[in-house]
Amino acid sequence: NKSEIILAIETSCDETSAAVIQDGNHILSNIVSSQIESHKRFGGVVPEIASRHHVEQMTLIIEEALKEAKVGWKDLSAIAVTEGPGLVGALLVGVHAAKAIAFAHQLPLIGVHHIAGHIYANQLVTELKFPLLALVVSGGHTELVYMETQGQFEIIGETRDDAVGEAYDKVARTLGLPYPGGPHIDRLASMATESIDLPRAWLEENSFDFSFSGLKSAVINVVHNEKQKGNEVNHESVARGFQESVIDVLVTKTRKATEAYPIKQLLLAGGVAANKGLRSALEMQFKNSKVELIIPPLHLCTDNAAMIGAAASIKYQQGQFSDFALNGNPGLDL
Ligand code: KG4
Ligand code: ZN
Repeated sequence: NKSEIILAIETSCDETSAAVIQDGNHILSNIVSSQIESHKRFGGVVPEIASRHHVEQMTLIIEEALKEAKVGWKDLSAIAVTEGPGLVGALLVGVHAAKAIAFAHQLPLIGVHHIAGHIYANQLVTELKFPLLALVVSGGHTELVYMETQGQFEIIGETRDDAVGEAYDKVARTLGLPYPGGPHIDRLASMATESIDLPRAWLEENSFDFSFSGLKSAVINVVHNEKQKGNEVNHESVARGFQESVIDVLVTKTRKATEAYPIKQLLLAGGVAANKGLRSALEMQFKNSKVELIIPPLHLCTDNAAMIGAAASIKYQQGQFSDFALNGNPGLDL
């Protein structure tokens, strides 16, 4: 039996990445080129700069991924690419590269949803057992996704305003910390000796939706008011208070969702899954639970093409291919 080898491309935001995945869970290569340094001075990702970097990097990264995996074009079973959501110009670079390769080498083309990729990053560390629940927390998304079986996604809760990572980045900016702010807040919070009291948005009883913009505004107000009174704001206490509020809501709602759905596994996914406070709070919560908690290593939580290859493998097996009408879709539904 010939094994299935997929070349995957991810360019939805500010990482240019290509990976080669064998049989859906074996990483032969996963090259990630980050543009963070180019965006830092602007305090966030500048879409036009992101697209240009992707154009410069794309072919080099693909060549490197094939070389490291020690595979040639003729070894590939399919080419996969993130089709959305994300920055449209950034997505287009990956989609066009993938279409060109599919055309030139007569390979099946597979468009992948970015969040499906984040969820399937977990398949690179363990065998998925259905039904399962995924907590997706990234710079653009905060979602609780129920999966009855392979390739079926039901969003049971989502943010009504800011994504968690977005709130982290905005709070970090308020405290004068560089982009991306999540890791800095995480570090400050772990050093704090006290924390300030901040609100939690529980929304309606039984709702699995989230809201983080009120919390973000509360942080901005506290910092602003203290400054006006001429007081020093203790950044560590603010970071700790903010992180406690975020984690309390995420973990409580996730626990309730695991009780409401008959699941075997809980997967953590997305860039904010790198948060040490969130990881340990979830580990504590599910230590003695029937639900198996899976948390991928950090490099598979942030944007990378290996996760796109893992998700594409399911589509490959299910015969779900894209045609040359495939396009970057910034608002693609899961
Ligand atoms: O998944 P990702 O790499 O890109 C998106 O698809 O959005 O997530 C990036 C987000 C950023 O907002 C970043 O601040 C956040 O993940 N992040 C963190 C941590 N590491 C990255 N947030 C909190 N704590 C962290 N340790
Ligand atoms: Zn992402």
